[in-house]
Amino acid sequence: MANATRPIETSSLPNDLEAFWMPFTANRAFKAKPRMIARAKDLHYFTPEGRPILDATAGLWCCNAGHNRAPIVDAIQKQAAELDFAPTFQYGHPKAFQLASRIAALAPGDLDHVFFCNSGSEAADSALKAALAYWNIKGQGQKMRLIGRERGYHGVGFGGITVGGIVPNRKFFGTLLAGADHLPHTYDREHQAFSKGEPAWGAHLADELERIVQLHDASTIAAMIVEPMAGSTGVLPAPQGYLKRLRQICDKHGLLLIFDEVITGFGRLGTAFAAERYGVTPDIITFAKGVTSGAVPMGGIIVRKEIYDTFMNGPEHAIEFFHGYTYSGHPLAAAAGLATLDLYRDEDLFARAKALEPKWADAVMSLKGTPGILDIRCVGLTAAFDMASKPDAYGLRGYKAMDYAFNEEGIMLRYTGETIAVTPPLTIEDKHIDEIVTKVKRSIQHVMQTH
Ligand SMILES: Cc1ncc(COP(=O)(O)O)c(C=O)c1O
Repeated sequence: MANATRPIETSSLPNDLEAFWMPFTANRAFKAKPRMIARAKDLHYFTPEGRPILDATAGLWCCNAGHNRAPIVDAIQKQAAELDFAPTFQYGHPKAFQLASRIAALAPGDLDHVFFCNSGSEAADSALKAALAYWNIKGQGQKMRLIGRERGYHGVGFGGITVGGIVPNRKFFGTLLAGADHLPHTYDREHQAFSKGEPAWGAHLADELERIVQLHDASTIAAMIVEPMAGSTGVLPAPQGYLKRLRQICDKHGLLLIFDEVITGFGRLGTAFAAERYGVTPDIITFAKGVTSGAVPMGGIIVRKEIYDTFMNGPEHAIEFFHGYTYSGHPLAAAAGLATLDLYRDEDLFARAKALEPKWADAVMSLKGTPGILDIRCVGLTAAFDMASKPDAYGLRGYKAMDYAFNEEGIMLRYTGETIAVTPPLTIEDKHIDEIVTKVKRSIQHVMQTH
């Protein structure tokens, strides 16, 4: 299908869009009017024609250090030339071990063992499997129930969608894993609208876990998994005190607590992990995205010492955890991860995100009062804007705002339903905050006037 007569300057444009079935995308609309990206540098993407697009979403909440940063690019290039692949089943390569130690050092408490996979979805499923196997090894294999939360997102594996609570991600895919239950989500506009940071109302919603425990009995429940800030559903910061209460209830009843930090990990909320921000130590943390600043796919879980130690029994030649991926701890991902963590440290990017948070929060909240904006939420370097829906066309304004922003304003936004979310790289400066807020405002005004 290659077209030899194609002019050189458009060589980065695919000449046929049909074959790629795009993920989480309105395929027909995209292929009729593509939003194509050819390259990136720092805070900007560039279209094939060279038009800059301010990346207000850090890609998919992953490029926390910005794009194509020289130390990360160099590390990947060197690694590809030195060792392209080595199995981590029964063999090892040094950088996977180094990276695991570096990640463990960032994690709170005694979360000091790291299992690698390649994505957030795999991380969520790995965490759930580790929790089930942990109880099994301890002779409590009847602890099989997994508890998630409405509006939660834990990727797209069967484990993740079972405990997740975003309806379209679940309803097409059968009955999912048996025995799961869900806490209510934590959003209530009446009590929380336009809260800066963690809303004051809602800690009591954690007590619903008590009710679930009463219903099923703790002896049947393995773990509770939550995002410290529910991102994909449209940025729902945890209510003040909510995560502490979940920890207390899990401790009281002997349930493992898993924080899905695929978005909140690596500085998004101004600390290495959100667990640190909230002073709550879970039993397992999942991570992905920011670990390599999005440059090479990688994910993983970090577990407490006691969990790892529980697995380390039986004959020494025997495999302790029958789980893993061909590309667990892939050399390119490990090299990218090490370079990324160096960059986070050298540029103090987590502290930078924390320092920017008040200015960010003021700036995004300044859109309160814009016609059509029903609520604004923010925490760390994230924000979401709920728009009024067009009657009988739910989701249309969200989609149109994203499309308009890309084509007319030169900015990448994310939307879910009628909510616009922005989560820029942690390297943004004050002037970018102003630019993001101005362009979000104009995009919302545009769709409210035209749709
Ligand atoms: C909290 C959370 N868990 C898991 C995932 C899934 O990650 P991936 O798309 O890498 O599978 C995401 C992705 O946004 C996420 O936000």
